[in-house]
Amino acid sequence: MGLRLKFNLAMLFALAIGYGLTGYAVHSMLQENARAAVLDMARIMRESALAIRSYTVEEVGPLMQTLSVERFLPHTVPSFAAQTNFRQVREAFPDYAYKEAALNPTNPSDRATDWEADIIHAFRNDDALRELILERDTPTGQSLVLAHPIRITNEACLQCHSTPAAAPASMIALYGEANGFGWKLDEIIGAQIVSVPMRVALERANQTFSTVMISLGAVFLTVFVILNLLLSFSVVRPIRRLSTLANEVSLGNLDAPELEPAGGGEIATLTAAFNRMRRSLENAMRMFS
Ligand code: HEC
Repeated sequence: MGLRLKFNLAMLFALAIGYGLTGYAVHSMLQENARAAVLDMARIMRESALAIRSYTVEEVGPLMQTLSVERFLPHTVPSFAAQTNFRQVREAFPDYAYKEAALNPTNPSDRATDWEADIIHAFRNDDALRELILERDTPTGQSLVLAHPIRITNEACLQCHSTPAAAPASMIALYGEANGFGWKLDEIIGAQIVSVPMRVALERANQTFSTVMISLGAVFLTVFVILNLLLSFSVVRPIRRLSTLANEVSLGNLDAPELEPAGGGEIATLTAAFNRMRRSLENAMRMFS
């Protein structure tokens, strides 16, 4: 095997391993960052929903108290306020969603779908489970879901969610007696579910990945070409010339022209040493003849 082939095989092997390992590390890091960014977004959405909820309880509720006597105003219900707000956000960002899903909801549009019910059951089956983060395939691409249990911790909730008799008549008139009752204190009745699309973040990560890998490939290719040229000009060619000359001299052709020890490196030292050895050989031959 020639020197150049050996050198190239070793270099290709090292570059391929470096390329693969870097690609793997960069890919995992970018995917992780994309997920973290989407999760941050989901947390901000949840916090704003909680802010709307407490604003409704603390600011809107007391003001509406006198009005609520005559007819029931859903506007004072925190769940209604938060979900109505996010329905408007959805008009601008259709893939984002906020839902307070319940197994037995007061408003039928809050009824948990199959996968939402699975989340609620997971919370009901494991008391220690405080948060669930999962990824779901949707028709518009992958979506990150951040879910928290909704537990009845306040007696006041039961006024409207225990029995129709306990609830305000005005509420029954609006929502009927069929749903949203029978909730118990300390029971997990639903889940607060935020969905954020991952498509854009993942596409951006993939784009960055391609750019990094193409640039790295270009750097490796340049290194490969430059080292090959260097090897060719400063090692392979001089050695080839020297070995041709050594061949000729060994076959008795002492007229072959001397090589110039160019460059000053190891090969030049070798050329100079060879020239000296050849001259000694010539002198020795002359003495014998
Ligand atoms: C004054 C009556 C009233 C009280 C008190 C009340 N709710 Fe509700 N709740 C409602 C109504 C009405 C809805 C349906 C709102 C809508 O149309 O979106 C609702 C909806 C909800 C929902 C969404 C799922 C569903 O049933 O549609 C959750 C979750 C919820 N309430 C939890 C609570 C909790 C927790 C408390 C106590 C902190 C509470 N509610 C107190 C009347 C009430």
